[in-house]
Amino acid sequence: MLGRTDLEAYTTWDFPTQSAGHPDAGDASFNGVTPAGCAANIVRRYTAPGELVVDPMAGSGTIGDVARALGRRAVSFDLAPRRPHILRADARSWPLLAQTAALAVIDSPYSDNVVYSADSRCLGRISCRDARFYEEMEKVASEAHRVLRPGGILGWIIADEYRGGVYTPVGFRLLGLLERRFEPIDTIVLVRHHDRSASPMWEHRARRFNFFLRGFKFLFILRKQVGESGG
Ligand SMILES: C[S@@+](CC[C@H](N)C(=O)[O-])C[C@H]1O[C@@H](n2cnc3c(N)ncnc32)[C@H](O)[C@@H]1O
Repeated sequence: MLGRTDLEAYTTWDFPTQSAGHPDAGDASFNGVTPAGCAANIVRRYTAPGELVVDPMAGSGTIGDVARALGRRAVSFDLAPRRPHILRADARSWPLLAQTAALAVIDSPYSDNVVYSADSRCLGRISCRDARFYEEMEKVASEAHRVLRPGGILGWIIADEYRGGVYTPVGFRLLGLLERRFEPIDTIVLVRHHDRSASPMWEHRARRFNFFLRGFKFLFILRKQVGESGG
């Protein structure tokens, strides 16, 4: 496997900066930006040059940027496109034909802690404590299943929430619903850096009031089974 010695080999991925290895991918100042190294690892592992990578919640566009830099075709869209090559579309209705993509990578909101746009359809307006959050994410998963080719891979990045003294295991709830359509391949822990809560004041509060700050996000990797078509 010459040329692949720089791929992550373990299930813990820790990239020191957002842009490590891909200085032009995405925008490090965008709230909730995906580490470019995460995108590069999943694109290189699960696609060949020329294959189609889809990012339906593109934000600052990291995943499409990395995919194109690696010689893949990429379609990126978002309710609030921030760059010219990002299309405007809802992640619950992908503007793509069935069974055309090799890989879909989704870095979704995980609760209503960040409002990404004025669009009332933004899924970052729904609390993860609300059952509707999972109903809407299921619609996104259904579109991923329709557009992926059999054997295609879904990577979904999400975090848990601890707010107001209440812990919500968002990741495991999401994985439960993804498993209804996809075969789980693995779960990666993505170490978080530079969060707003990463400060001595919040660390002091976490120890004093006996809670934990969020140190990681999940990257769930799942496969659309061979022999299955859309929907
Ligand atoms: C965590 S950010 C994505 C970060 C991105 N991967 C990057 O590297 O910049 C989540 C994105 O989901 C988008 N979003 C929320 N609801 C959406 C929907 N219904 N359809 C499409 N995009 C949506 C938001 O506008 C936001 O840009």
